[in-house]
Amino acid sequence: CPILRDSAKGGTQSSPQSRNTDATLGLVPTMGALHEGHRSLLQRASRECAVTAATIFVNPLQFAPTEDLSRYPRTFEADVAMLQAEGIDLLFAPTPEEMYPDGAVTTIHVNGIEDRLDGASRPGHFCGVATVVAKLFHIVQPHRAYFGQKDAAQLAVLRQMTRDLNFDLDLIACPTVRDPDGLALSSRNRYLSAEERTRALTLSRTLQLIYTRIAEGQRNTATLLDEAHSTLAAEPNITLDYLAIVDPNTLLPIPEATPGTLIAIAAKVGTTRLIDNLLAP
Ligand code: PAJ
Repeated sequence: CPILRDSAKGGTQSSPQSRNTDATLGLVPTMGALHEGHRSLLQRASRECAVTAATIFVNPLQFAPTEDLSRYPRTFEADVAMLQAEGIDLLFAPTPEEMYPDGAVTTIHVNGIEDRLDGASRPGHFCGVATVVAKLFHIVQPHRAYFGQKDAAQLAVLRQMTRDLNFDLDLIACPTVRDPDGLALSSRNRYLSAEERTRALTLSRTLQLIYTRIAEGQRNTATLLDEAHSTLAAEPNITLDYLAIVDPNTLLPIPEATPGTLIAIAAKVGTTRLIDNLLAP
């Protein structure tokens, strides 16, 4: 699993060889602190692509000054071990200076979508995500890029960007991996105390409640949200950021849930911000 540090400078050692052959090149972008959710993406990429690449880069551009950039978990050795165990062929792990040399000023805005859901509470976040992912797409030039459904708003932003900027690749959305009790795996879960981890289950429980009501036939989103908010009010153990039932591509609210409608939640548990979602049945 060779570590490619120079390809951001234009050396692009990895991709052109792959792009010049018939071998499908699959990319899994990450910020490291890899867990079983990341592993599922790596495994899917390995299964579907002849050559696989992963990136590890804690992207400063997607963190606000008040956020957890400096304390974001970094477990590089263990991450490399997982990439090797999953047979990943190439790792690109640039430094911030390599990705954003002095004088770099170009950013990507996915107008409208970037300000919805997490974008509303994290101004600038999705501009940072879109910019770094566009750069990674250009550097690695994958045929297929794998992202988790766990970050549903990120997926919407990246789908739109890929379409609008004519990136010649397929975005593959992979299902959310959960602990047996329903908690969606996240690099940030390691911030939670045992007691906070129990409280964090409110997120997946709330989504499951709405999912079940839709399966029972209740499709009116105002009613679904009212019901869920009443349940949440009875257990005020998390600080809700948003609970939303929206179109999965535009992230705009819709009056009636249909199959594939996005049910999304974000909340703070202690100081840790967690997100989760389900797609309506
Ligand atoms: P990161 O949070 O490291 O996540 C990397 C990829 O793993 C994302 O596509 C994310 O959706 C996916 N993922 C995380 N938890 C998952 C889970 N429980 N089940 C399935 N997939 C999961 O998302 C980012 O990094 C960054 O924003 C990035 C796209 C790399 C740009 O910097």
